[in-house]
Amino acid sequence: MERVHPPTAPERLEAVEIEVTHATVQFGGVRAVDDVTLRHNTGGVLGLIGPNGAGKTTLLNALAGVTRLRSGSIRLHGTDITRRAPEQISRLGVARTFQNLQVFGSLSVLDNVLVPRWVRRRSHRSGPRDKAAERRAALAVLERVGIAEHADRLAGTLAYGLQRRVELARALAAEPALLLLDEPLAGLSRVEGARAARLFTELAEDGITVVLVEHDVSSVLAVSGRIVVLDRGAVLATGTPDEVVADPAVRHAYLGDSD
Ligand SMILES: Nc1ncnc2c1ncn2[C@@H]1O[C@H](COP(=O)(O)OP(=O)(O)OP(=O)(O)O)[C@@H](O)[C@H]1O
Ligand SMILES: [Mg+2]
Repeated sequence: MERVHPPTAPERLEAVEIEVTHATVQFGGVRAVDDVTLRHNTGGVLGLIGPNGAGKTTLLNALAGVTRLRSGSIRLHGTDITRRAPEQISRLGVARTFQNLQVFGSLSVLDNVLVPRWVRRRSHRSGPRDKAAERRAALAVLERVGIAEHADRLAGTLAYGLQRRVELARALAAEPALLLLDEPLAGLSRVEGARAARLFTELAEDGITVVLVEHDVSSVLAVSGRIVVLDRGAVLATGTPDEVVADPAVRHAYLGDSD
């Protein structure tokens, strides 16, 4: 029997080098991202935490090219993406999920995964598509996130937690090197959340660099190799989970611990 390869062949991927330098995003009078400088080149899961309004989503949007910086720059693997359009950035191997679920409810689960693959092939100007191979690859992605059994169902008819997995499958369908996740655990049950968190770790082990924005701090601390704490648009602390938890500024400003 033919072996179905996972969508992400580990040997193909190396840790994405992310360099954000003095990045600022301004919305009217609000500095959503305020002079953020961070570097990350060790892959794995990079956790991005901080209180509501800290600028997490805005920073993720800036990495994806959806939101323009007012000043500063962003480089991926040394390529300046500061002024690139989202499609150009996705072509560099960046995929994302959204804080508000985004799936095509009236398409089947399988088509939800096939469509982004098709768009990607078109933008790469790849040769004629081999429908059977595309289908196998899409099914492999569904297997990966544990929803292959729902391939033929309309995505909109699935329970919320399963739709979250469809969204993740859509992002993985692009075979990203850098995966940006905005609160992927929100609304999931404990069991679903634990399962999703385990999957993020596995994806990181496959070589995908994962940036995880999440309110569920204990999950972020559990799966992230490195954490960046944002507060009011600025970097409050950076380090291993143990380091940021022990940081007095983080305890005071974020965890609400005054001792
Ligand atoms: N499109 C926008 N227009 C105006 N202000 C915005 C816009 N997007 C975000 N903001 C503001 O920028 C700041 C940062 O918002 P952002 O959504 O990035 O925070 P966040 O850390 O993702 O918060 P949450 O945890 O609530 O998702 C907030 O003060 C927010 O009100
Ligand atoms: Mg947000």
